[in-house]
Amino acid sequence: MTRTVVLAGTSGYGSTYLREITELEAEGAVRLVGLCDVRPPTATAHQPFADRPFDTSLDRLLTLTHPDVAIVSTPIHTHLPLGRAALNAGCHLMLEKPPAPSAAEWRELAALARSAGVSCQVGFQSLGSGAYARLRELIGAGTLGRVEGIGCYGAWSRDAAYYRRASWAGRRELRGVPVADGALTNPFAHAVATALALDASTDWDDITALDTELFRVRDIETDDTSCLRMTSRRGTVITVAVTLAAQTPSEPVIIVHGSRLRAELHYTRDLLVLDGRPSQHDRTSPLRNLLAHLDDPRIALQSDIAACGAFTRVLDTVNTTPAPRMVDERWLVHEGVGDTARTYLPGVEQAVRMSAEQLATFTELDEPWAA
Ligand SMILES: NC(=O)c1ccc[n+]([C@@H]2O[C@H](COP(=O)([O-])OP(=O)(O)OC[C@H]3O[C@@H](n4cnc5c(N)ncnc54)[C@H](O)[C@@H]3O)[C@@H](O)[C@H]2O)c1
Repeated sequence: MTRTVVLAGTSGYGSTYLREITELEAEGAVRLVGLCDVRPPTATAHQPFADRPFDTSLDRLLTLTHPDVAIVSTPIHTHLPLGRAALNAGCHLMLEKPPAPSAAEWRELAALARSAGVSCQVGFQSLGSGAYARLRELIGAGTLGRVEGIGCYGAWSRDAAYYRRASWAGRRELRGVPVADGALTNPFAHAVATALALDASTDWDDITALDTELFRVRDIETDDTSCLRMTSRRGTVITVAVTLAAQTPSEPVIIVHGSRLRAELHYTRDLLVLDGRPSQHDRTSPLRNLLAHLDDPRIALQSDIAACGAFTRVLDTVNTTPAPRMVDERWLVHEGVGDTARTYLPGVEQAVRMSAEQLATFTELDEPWAA
């Protein structure tokens, strides 16, 4: 069945959707009936869709086109108004992650989707990975033994241009509205959501304890080097330690410490390593999974907005706890100027890794910059 779709937010991550829509149109699965952005279309990105209606108002576009599905890939603080417009128009919603920048906004969107009787998928693409599904299966079957803890580490690097590209980058709030663009809540949001989902702890009440250690190495509002430790209702200790100030970046890893086996999920690479034995898997994108679910409701949504409660609790806590502490200058190294300027925290790669291995926080690891 061909579903009609509109896309709000056509550049930035929206260009990934434009590419996917091109493929899905070729397969006959969707027909793009309109585009929405506050900025005028750019020739290259929109060129294949130059014949489709374009509007700066999603409300107007929805009234004109009545699509089956609205895709919202806009800045986090616009998810509520745009998501609300789509749900009120009776559309199924493909909403980028994180679903909302506060608990209240997530609750409103989840409630609207429920009362409208439509589906709302959140763009946590890691949950569509076959490697994630296989690991869930192995945990469920008891193959790993008792899960003693789940530790995630991630070490990326961001330059000044990353923070200059948009007014909301690195902000906790903008003009009084929550934004939540911290390392844990946005770039590494997949790590948090995937670790919680591996533990089958996705509801708000599934978290019984939650501690954060938030730091920053730049002149931003949010954390960029952070550690989170939670205990889930089933008693699992879950840690997530991440940084955007790595000198030697690497892809994030989630370690499941089983009493019998150890598993590593490299969630950006669809790679599962079970006691040292790697296996490579496929993935289904959030949009494809949503379309499959609409065709056959027995196919579950990979990332239903209703299942983002525990994630949103983390996000809300991280974004409202006392502001992240600036790491003292003596621990930092600066390189480059202008847009390419980077700040590094030497040794942080080892710190985040040790956190995941030992389920420990930065201060417990005696990291000198965290003292
Ligand atoms: N799933 C992933 O791996 C992934 C990766 C990157 C970003 N994202 C998410 O995608 C979303 C967009 O991020 P981005 O970096 O592309 O943002 P961005 O600031 O680049 O904006 C994306 C587009 O939205 C448009 N836009 C802004 N406000 C709008 C409004 N009110 N109505 C219509 N269009 C509007 C902008 O003009 C731009 O074209 C965020 O939720 C982000 O967290 C997801």
